[in-house]
Amino acid sequence: MVLLRGLCTIALIFLSSGLTVASPGFNFNWFNGGDENGESEEQLGLIPEFYQYSCPQVNDIVMSVLEQAIAKDPRMAASLLRLHFHDCFVQGCDASILLDDSETIISEKQSIPNKNSIRGFEVIDEIKAKLEEACPGVVSCADILALAARGSTVLSGGPYWVLPLGRRDSKTASLSGSNINIPPPNSTLQNLISFFNHQGLDEIDLVALSGSHTIGVARCLSFKQRLYNQNGSNQPDETLERNYYNGLTSVCPKSGGDNNISPLDFASPAMFDNSYFKLIMGGKGLLNSDEVLLSENNWNTVQLVKSYAEDEGIFFNQFAYSMVKMGNIGPLTGYNGEVRMNCRRVN
Ligand code: HEM
Repeated sequence: MVLLRGLCTIALIFLSSGLTVASPGFNFNWFNGGDENGESEEQLGLIPEFYQYSCPQVNDIVMSVLEQAIAKDPRMAASLLRLHFHDCFVQGCDASILLDDSETIISEKQSIPNKNSIRGFEVIDEIKAKLEEACPGVVSCADILALAARGSTVLSGGPYWVLPLGRRDSKTASLSGSNINIPPPNSTLQNLISFFNHQGLDEIDLVALSGSHTIGVARCLSFKQRLYNQNGSNQPDETLERNYYNGLTSVCPKSGGDNNISPLDFASPAMFDNSYFKLIMGGKGLLNSDEVLLSENNWNTVQLVKSYAEDEGIFFNQFAYSMVKMGNIGPLTGYNGEVRMNCRRVN
């Protein structure tokens, strides 16, 4: 009995220590399925219950800050969802994107995809400050990004997913990694597939995760080429529906106006639904990278766009699954990395 109690105590200390134990032999198959090979999650050691004892209120705190932030600025949900993506595609989901310039850090915030575009840092700071009050030194910034992405999706009307946790924070950032690994909006479909494959994600993940563009906005700079000079032709992208094209030219003139914004899904810009896919079907996807999912006649992506446009449930299920997969890209676990006290600086 005494021995049993002792073992339980050790188990509790172990679970609340805030450290993921690197566990090559474990197979925490916590989320529905894993990839086709069942491989990628095997050595991760991320588990949904990671903060069960060390910070049980973590999700409540994240959600209360998100509710206020999104009520004040509905676009914030989109911005936070994107922040997690831009984090994970650069040296894994390790909160490298949150680091400011310092003596040892060249911030990713100045990269081409991020500059004048990525946002939401103050909301992450606020969540982190509240968590440091409640559970000092326990919840990583990388997990906050993953929780904020899920919470933002849910608060916008999208799906919930069981989220593996236990990521730790990097002590480095990579400006070049951010420039190289995040796909640009004028990508061809083949390029998009390559960017995603490079992260262990497939065509299904690409189409489902592109569905994030059901919320949020893009700057004129990100779609101007389609309006005036698609493929160096001096002509608009012929896949653009005519009325939609006309509307866009008034927001995004040929010269200037680079920071004017337009919704990625004008049908329901703050609602996480499947209208993004319906719009693509009508030639009303905003970015080149949106429309090529349909227009480049890749049988797989075309079928996926159609099925998500027809059935929101299929999209939501796949989106949830692909978000878990993206959130599992190269996490730091065990004694790697650290739990930052302030998400903008290494300890
Ligand atoms: C498939 C390749 C992708 C490309 C080429 C791409 C590109 C872009 C671009 C250019 C913008 C607008 C930025 C600006 O003009 O300031 C944007 C916005 C956005 N992206 Fe993506 N994206 C991709 C995939 C993703 C993924 C995988 C996610 C999330 C999982 C995502 C979430 C978002 C969101 C939510 C916004 C709106 C942000 C806001 O309003 O602040 N994107 N994306």
